[in-house]
Amino acid sequence: MTYPPGTIIRYSTASRINHWITGICFTLLVLSGLSMFHPFLFWLSNLFGGGQWTRAAHPWIGCVLFASYMGMIVQFWRDELPSRDDIAWLRAINRVLVNNEEGVPEVPRFNAGQKFVFWAMALLVPVLFFTGLVIWEYYFSGYTTIEQQRIALLVHSLAAIGAIIVWITHVYAGLWIRGSMRAMMHGWVTPGWAYRHHRKWLRRLVETGSRGPLPRRQ
Ligand code: HEM
Repeated sequence: MTYPPGTIIRYSTASRINHWITGICFTLLVLSGLSMFHPFLFWLSNLFGGGQWTRAAHPWIGCVLFASYMGMIVQFWRDELPSRDDIAWLRAINRVLVNNEEGVPEVPRFNAGQKFVFWAMALLVPVLFFTGLVIWEYYFSGYTTIEQQRIALLVHSLAAIGAIIVWITHVYAGLWIRGSMRAMMHGWVTPGWAYRHHRKWLRRLVETGSRGPLPRRQ
């Protein structure tokens, strides 16, 4: 993969493929899940070839999402660990929201908002997966009682609502910060983008002579 000269690498090709598999699966799960959630939304099942196909495909796509998000956890968890920087950034959130980052404390590779998305999904995706197994009637209905399946269905629906809210926030933030989509599509950002949004990360890269996404070991 070649990147324009003078740019910084924010996401490796592997991370981007991993992220977009996650994103596509999640979108398909939202559409197929909503079509089964309420009769009013049943028309969405036409996208998957009808009700039966939707019901058959949804859990399998869920398995791919689970595996894919586990891959993202393995790649990103170190940079997503909470730190003092998060509290300083959250205190200055008013300025971040009006797009005036002047005076906002320096941010490492990910800000507190991004970390929230990461950890919220790290909780919700496994909850969706395991409750999904309990209600996957075709293979697993013999292992649990109807009562347990009802509880699993309720938790599955509530977790899905939570994940959809987190997802909408995440996509909105990605579109709102100009340059973020390019980072996830093509892998690179300009030094100006890194200076403005993730200055602490940029400093670490410069100090260690790395082009990104991770600082070279010193
Ligand atoms: C389908 C629509 C999606 C879009 C348009 C989208 C967009 C983006 C963008 C632009 C970034 C780069 C942010 C930056 O570096 O400044 C990003 C990062 C990331 N995305 Fe997504 N994404 C989508 C779906 C998802 C889903 C469904 C998940 C998890 C289940 C997810 C998890 C992440 C994580 C963990 C990162 C890295 C840390 C962060 O920026 O939060 N994304 N995404």
